Amino acid sequence: MGLIMHDQSFLILGSGGQLGKAFKARLAADGIPFLAPEEQVCNITDARHMEKALAACEPTVLVNCAAYNAVDDAEANADLADAVNHKAVRALSKLCRANNILMVHYGTDYVFDGKKHDIYDEDDAVNPLNVYGRSKLDGERAVCDCAGEFLVFRPSWVFGEGAQNFITKLRGWAADNRVLRVSSDEASIPTGVDNIVDVTLRAVQHGLRGLYHLTNSGYASRYEWARYVLELLHLENVVMPVPMSAFRSKAERPLFTPMSNERLCGRLNIDIPHWKDAVRQHVLGSDHA
Ligand SMILES: NC(=O)c1ccc[n+]([C@@H]2O[C@H](COP(=O)([O-])OP(=O)(O)OC[C@H]3O[C@@H](n4cnc5c(N)ncnc54)[C@H](OP(=O)(O)O)[C@@H]3O)[C@@H](O)[C@H]2O)c1
Repeated sequence: MGLIMHDQSFLILGSGGQLGKAFKARLAADGIPFLAPEEQVCNITDARHMEKALAACEPTVLVNCAAYNAVDDAEANADLADAVNHKAVRALSKLCRANNILMVHYGTDYVFDGKKHDIYDEDDAVNPLNVYGRSKLDGERAVCDCAGEFLVFRPSWVFGEGAQNFITKLRGWAADNRVLRVSSDEASIPTGVDNIVDVTLRAVQHGLRGLYHLTNSGYASRYEWARYVLELLHLENVVMPVPMSAFRSKAERPLFTPMSNERLCGRLNIDIPHWKDAVRQHVLGSDHA
């Protein structure tokens, strides 16, 4: 459903990523004014780029979709992760405050250590296990400390248009291998970019402020997610459940990080679709929503 928001203008940063692309498509479809500069001319770590972008667009809302998301590579590139996910976010927050701009930013479920053995809410203690998670936590804290008017949303297992997401990778693996090994002891919530965009715009329209978990509903292990995607595609690969430790990745990852979207749904008086509905729509198209 289109939202009427002609009193707002948006600056979208990280316009080439999954979430950035979904924002561009939705704002264009709804006729909401926005600027979404290419990342080459809008590097969020470059203060001059940011000042130019603000001057060109004079936004009322800045949406930061840019992030350094390479969880394993971040272990050896902590300075870069910190520069993009924290220091640049702090500088952006200050710019927003100085210019009376609402800052919208995205965190991650990887701020948690997964040891709660229950669903996380916004009041739970954070304890990131890896460099990426620490840089993202520092970033969300910088927004809360410096931005003035802000919305910080924590999504998990984000999927949209792009080569990096789990669904795209799974399709590639399935084309090349009959047997797939997928972790069954790692659980969170697959979350579609269209739902993230929709809820973000509703929150802006509603005048909401603060930090919220923004995920689809329900939760799944990565194994269950893989099985569901293959079922939708009528693919008959064998999916073997294995522990995450079988993959020996560079970064330690939390095992169980589903987050409750209840607080956000309550404030906006909405329901957010189940992850299976979002995955089905993404894999099969909007006719199957
Ligand atoms: N993907 C997930 O599973 C996941 C899970 C939890 C939370 N999140 C969070 O959700 C948000 C959106 O994620 P996403 O999946 O849309 O990420 P994405 O597809 O990786 O997009 C991030 C974009 O930021 C760009 N970028 C990196 N450094 C930049 C810089 N210095 N200046 C400008 N742009 C820069 C990247 O460009 P390059 O590709 O050229 O580097 C990429 O196009 C992020 O805050 C992310 O941390 C994501």
